[in-house]
Amino acid sequence: MGSIETPTNAENSSISTLTATVGDGAVQPSDSNGAPVEENDASKKRKASMLPLEVGTRVLCRWRDNKYHPVKVIERRKLPGGGANDYEYYVHYTEFNRRLDEWVKLEQLDLDSVETVVDEKVEDKVTSLKMTRHQKRKIDETHVEGHEELDAASLREHEEFTKVKNIATIELGRYEIETWYFSPFPPEYNDCVKLYFCEFCLNFMKRKEQLQRHMRKCDLKHPPGDEIYRCGTLSMFEVDGKKNKVYGQNLCYLAKLFLDHKTLYYDVDLFLFYVLCECDDRGCHMVGYFSKEKHSEESYNLACILTLPPYQRKGYGKFLIAFSYELSKKEGKVGTPERPLSDLGLLSYRGYWTRVLLDILKKHKGNISIKELSDMTAIKAEDILTTLQTLELIQYRKGQHVICADPKVLDRHLKAAGRGGLEVDVSKLIWTPYKEQN
Ligand code: ACO
Ligand code: ZN
Repeated sequence: MGSIETPTNAENSSISTLTATVGDGAVQPSDSNGAPVEENDASKKRKASMLPLEVGTRVLCRWRDNKYHPVKVIERRKLPGGGANDYEYYVHYTEFNRRLDEWVKLEQLDLDSVETVVDEKVEDKVTSLKMTRHQKRKIDETHVEGHEELDAASLREHEEFTKVKNIATIELGRYEIETWYFSPFPPEYNDCVKLYFCEFCLNFMKRKEQLQRHMRKCDLKHPPGDEIYRCGTLSMFEVDGKKNKVYGQNLCYLAKLFLDHKTLYYDVDLFLFYVLCECDDRGCHMVGYFSKEKHSEESYNLACILTLPPYQRKGYGKFLIAFSYELSKKEGKVGTPERPLSDLGLLSYRGYWTRVLLDILKKHKGNISIKELSDMTAIKAEDILTTLQTLELIQYRKGQHVICADPKVLDRHLKAAGRGGLEVDVSKLIWTPYKEQN
């Protein structure tokens, strides 16, 4: 199926990236016979009277696939030098993830499809009065992409504050990358649509010439910190947020451009950053990273994970996830990723958990318990249970969960779980767990 993005429900959606094609849900404005609609004067007048469109308006918008999709106007701004009604609009495609939100021109909007504007607050109040508790919980959950702890009010606050992407593109190493979400850069960057990052120290600048000057002086050729893994051209660096505060903060600003429901921690002291690089004779180029709290009461072994867009869908995400569990194994602990998981995060984790657990079940003779699986993999028992339940491999018999693993069913699930990703060669990992130094 070719739907572009996950809509709101991360659990059972098909997703692809910004460049993918759109299948369902697209509409083409036409009359009942399918012929393009002819404009008459009355209709032109009626349309002009709607302008400029109000924030909150729902309308169809022509997307890059040339088809029309429902959007909600999030923000509007006057076009420089334009007339009184000449605005462009920042829209959210209601079927898709917020990373596709964008500024569009009036020509892209089908004004015949404009819906009467409803006062948001009134709408919310009415809906919540009419909803049963179960329905309300469902809506809150789906809104936050599978996550319960952001309630509807904090989610609205989050969306209001971060509603318009501030930085549209970044330059990082040899890539120019379109951003996905708002990131709270310091106020002096408010007027920038593009930022230039040093790919090694992650300092960011407003102008290309500043970056060029910086590159002549910057003597880093890899992330600061210790190289704890090297295998072929891949290296992992461990960066202590306390020892490398500025690097940690720069990394968080950068990462937030691709992470939606994550708070930006200014207190980077409390985190370790594991930065994955592809190395060549010019240096070690960051591919992605994950962060990890030095001490987690909730047994989180990963706080945020990111593969930079040019490197996505090549198995690096699963490598980073596998790496986080290898660290947990060395610590002798089980781990779980911090919630909320994004749509893509959930897919990657589901794929990883499925592959690791089913590989074991395939090879294992006789009974095996969830606790044993957890001890072998460092995956938290709850995550094992939900993964196996989702795959319908668990039955509840005589007060106990029993794993039912028919080899043919396992093979089918394994095939559906996608490729294995890049392997972590544990013999190449030289690492001791974090210990506070006084
Ligand atoms: N469309 C469909 N499936 C996808 C997509 C996509 N765009 N991206 C990932 N997947 C699924 C696939 O099943 C894929 O396996 P496959 O390629 O074998 O089919 C699997 O997830 C993982 O693929 P990888 O190549 O190993 O992962 P990638 O390097 O692309 O990184 C990641 C995954 C880190 C989630 C990346 O998409 C990303 O950085 N996204 C933005 C930030 C984000 O959402 N991070 C997670 C937040 S949750 C948290 O931090 C705890
Ligand atoms: Zn630098």
